[in-house]
Amino acid sequence: MEAVESINLVKVYHSKEIVEALKGVNISIRKGELYTLLGPNGAGKTTFLRIISTQLLPTKGEAYVSGYDVLTQPNEVRKHIAVVPQDVATYGNFTPWEYSYYFSLLRGMTKREAKEAAEKALKAVELWDLRNRTCATLSGGEKKRAIIASALASNSDIFMLDEPTSGLDAVARRNVWAVLRGMVEQGKTILLTTHIMEEAEMVSDRLAIIHEGTVIAEGTPEQIKRLVKEKFRVVVDGNLNSLGLVENNNRVVKFGSKWIIYIKDEDEALEIVGTALKKGLRAETATITLEDVFVKLVGGETD
Ligand SMILES: Nc1ncnc2c1ncn2[C@@H]1O[C@H](COP(=O)(O)OP(=O)(O)OP(=O)(O)O)[C@@H](O)[C@H]1O
Ligand SMILES: [Mg+2]
Repeated sequence: MEAVESINLVKVYHSKEIVEALKGVNISIRKGELYTLLGPNGAGKTTFLRIISTQLLPTKGEAYVSGYDVLTQPNEVRKHIAVVPQDVATYGNFTPWEYSYYFSLLRGMTKREAKEAAEKALKAVELWDLRNRTCATLSGGEKKRAIIASALASNSDIFMLDEPTSGLDAVARRNVWAVLRGMVEQGKTILLTTHIMEEAEMVSDRLAIIHEGTVIAEGTPEQIKRLVKEKFRVVVDGNLNSLGLVENNNRVVKFGSKWIIYIKDEDEALEIVGTALKKGLRAETATITLEDVFVKLVGGETD
């Protein structure tokens, strides 16, 4: 049985305008994997998470969590999941301790279990020292970590986290990733969204790229990177024309004051770097990143 499965999931919002947020999404997430949804703003990631976490009804299609139907067995689904929503609004007079401890009690833990779970979770996100401050007095990232801790303190099988690391500093983000990977090693299933491609590439077992309500790519980071023919990137700082390269070539992208050139084979990439260095320009090459592939796929440059 899959941890999460959606079959032709469709969501149409009827507000002032009609928005087709999901146009038939099929996603299967295995037990014990860390699965990441990537996609530009408005792609439908939050809509998908809200449906499978029983907070929003789909327009059409089916979805199952641990084999339970989100439409007809929402209470069963809720017993198996912990959710961190994208827009965190904390209760200002709650402390991080209360968030982790009382939510664990509400989930049916004994006082002792809840205490242990809260302590472990708050230490994991490095909020232990701030555990008795009210959320009103915490910074944005600290509040977010309090919410993450309250989810981690639960003994759920499946964690659904909508941009858990947005607004967190680099040290806190690495911490959260380490904790999440540790949970996966213990057999938990994690579904999350992020816009930080480098991290998605490093931590995910599999990912799906959603674009305008449709899954346009799915697989391991390596499988997704194979979807584009260019395998290397050269970054050049300086005037491209002096390298005999034209700026309106579709292999060339401007990034700030630098240029990224996408190249199929390594010899050609090294040749361009060599030429650039001879002309006194700074240049370096590396293999393409998930972010390069994301930009190409979402920009419509599929092969
Ligand atoms: N309550 C709503 N009523 C109408 N349209 C909505 C509603 N919620 C979301 N949408 C629209 O549905 C689409 C998908 O939104 P969603 O929040 O799922 O995107 P997302 O992938 O999570 O984006 P982001 O990366 O910005 O969080 C967008 O076009 C959005 O404007
Ligand atoms: Mg979102």
